[in-house]
Amino acid sequence: MFTAKCAMQNIRNVAIVGSGQMGSGIAQVTASSGFNVMLADVNKKALDRAMKAISQSVTHLSKKQKGTDKEKSDFVTLTMSRIKTCNNVSTAVADADLIIEAAIENIDLKRGIFAQIEQSCKKDSILTTNTSSFLLEDVAKGLQDKTRFGGLHFFNPVPVMKLLEVIRSDDTSDETYATLIKFGTAVGKTTVACKDSPGFIVNRLLIPYFFEAARMYERGDASMTDIDEAMKLGAGHPMGPFELADYIGLDTVKFVMDGWAAKYPEVQLFEASPLVDKLVAEGKLGRKTGDGFYSYKK
Ligand code: CAA
Repeated sequence: MFTAKCAMQNIRNVAIVGSGQMGSGIAQVTASSGFNVMLADVNKKALDRAMKAISQSVTHLSKKQKGTDKEKSDFVTLTMSRIKTCNNVSTAVADADLIIEAAIENIDLKRGIFAQIEQSCKKDSILTTNTSSFLLEDVAKGLQDKTRFGGLHFFNPVPVMKLLEVIRSDDTSDETYATLIKFGTAVGKTTVACKDSPGFIVNRLLIPYFFEAARMYERGDASMTDIDEAMKLGAGHPMGPFELADYIGLDTVKFVMDGWAAKYPEVQLFEASPLVDKLVAEGKLGRKTGDGFYSYKK
C-alpha cells in the first residue's frame, strides 16, 4: 500500500483535533494524499457526521478521476481506510508525527487542547493550529517547546480550495517550518508564507472586505444582490461578499472582527457592523442556520 512520507522530518501519522467542517476537510485531503489520519473529537456525533461528509466528498471526487470504476472505488476504500476516529485527544495524538488542531476559535479552548497534546504526544511531533484569526504566539502561550509549533491555515471547502497558508512564529524552528511546507505540498496545496499577524494574508483582507460590503449596503449605496453580482462579474470572485460570509458563517465572521477590534482598537477597518450584529443576535448565521444575509430555506 502506498504511504506518503514527507521529507525534512518524517511525517506518516497525522492527528487532527476537531472534526467540524475544517477538521473533516483536512482529514480528507490528508488521507487521500496517503497519510494515516487519526481524527479526534470529544463529540462522538460530530465524528460520525464528519466520516459521513468525508465519505460523500471522496466518492464525489473519485467520479471526476480518470480510470476504471474499480480504480475509483479503490480510491474511496483506501482513503477511508486510512482514517481512524477517536474521542480522546491524548490517545489520538500519542503516535502522531504531525498534529493539526482544528477546534473552534476559542483561545482558552485551544490553549487547553495544546496543553493536553504536549503532555501526550511524542517529543519530536510537530504541533500546528488551523486558527484563522489568533496570533500563533497567543495560541502557543502555554507550550513548553515552541520551536516545534507552527500554523497550517486551510480554506473552506478544504478538498476544493488549493491554498494553504503556512505560518511561523518567532519561535518556530527552520526544520519545523520546512517540514510544514513539504507537508502542504504533499497534500496537494500551494503554500504561501506569512508572518504571525492578524488573519495572515487571506482573512486579513477578506474579513474587512465583508464588513465594508455590509457598510456599503447599510449606507444604501447598493443592494446586497448587486454588490454580490458586481464582485462576481466585475472582479471575478466565485461568490460575492454576502454569499461568502453566509457560507463561512456570520458568527465566525463577527467573532473574528470583534476579537481584532478589542485587540487593535486603533485600526478603523476592524469596526463592527450593526447589520452583522443584528443578524447574529437573531441566530441568522448564514447557510448553516438557513438564514443569514440571504434566506436558504426554499
Ligand atoms: N468536497 C468536494 N467537492 C466539493 C465540496 C466539498 N466539500 N464543495 C464543493 N465541491 C465541488 C462541487 O461538488 C463541484 O464539483 P463538480 O464541478 O465536479 O460538480 C465544485 O466543487 C463546484 O461546486 P458547486 O458546483 O457546488 O458550486 P460552485 O461552482 O459555486 O463552487 C465553491 C462552490 C467551490 C464553494 C465556490 O463557490 C468557491 O470557490 N467559493 C469561494 C470559497 C472561498 O472563498 N473559500 C474561502 C473562504 S475563507 C476561509 O475558508 C478561511 C477562514 O478561515 C474563514
